[in-house]
Amino acid sequence: MPENEVLKAIRERRSILRFEQKPVPEEQVQAILEAGRWAPSFANSQPWEFIVVREEGLLAELNSLVQRIAIAKRGKVAISKAGLGEAPLAIVIVVDPWKDPQHYVEAGTAAAQNMALAAHSLGLASYWAGVYSPRGGRGTPEARIKKLLGIPEEHRVIAVLPVGFPAYKDQSERKELAELVHYDRYGGKEGQR
Ligand SMILES: Cc1cc2nc3c(=O)[nH]c(=O)nc-3n(C[C@H](O)[C@H](O)[C@H](O)COP(=O)(O)O)c2cc1C
Repeated sequence: MPENEVLKAIRERRSILRFEQKPVPEEQVQAILEAGRWAPSFANSQPWEFIVVREEGLLAELNSLVQRIAIAKRGKVAISKAGLGEAPLAIVIVVDPWKDPQHYVEAGTAAAQNMALAAHSLGLASYWAGVYSPRGGRGTPEARIKKLLGIPEEHRVIAVLPVGFPAYKDQSERKELAELVHYDRYGGKEGQR
């Protein structure tokens, strides 16, 4: 199989739930944001904006609004009540549905994944705190984050990415390709024509 730095970063990125208490150099933060900026979007609508949260009080509030999901061997799932994992910063991915009413979610997720990969490629780590709530109701973590950070009412929060130096190494697994891939039609096997 071919191998290069992009493929390696995609394969080796992992969600990291705890971070070293060490600041992230500003140029690395900018490189991560830049990776988000270059994500694809429908008709290049670029419906995203990014909030870099570093203020301690705000991080503490965000900490109480996101949950960490740890998946242990044999698929055992543990969800912590709260946690940015002591990350020194968090990037909040916000989208404006007016800029792209059809595909704002996909665009925001593409930007978030670009940023997660960029962080990993720089020796940093992140995890995706999924705060987007499909119905966007009051009292949801998404609504509370919008209030906390002064995000306009009509905007949506796609994800919060805590970013920092990883405090440990993780190894989640994936299903085998053979379980996921079909050829020509759903259920079609390779070479079966
Ligand atoms: C849409 C989405 C929402 C997620 N939400 C959370 C979350 O709220 N908390 C968390 O700890 N991890 C969250 N994750 C991270 C997943 O748990 C993680 O990607 C998955 O277990 C695979 O592990 P890996 O990222 O290390 O490969 C989310 C990931 C995605 C793509």
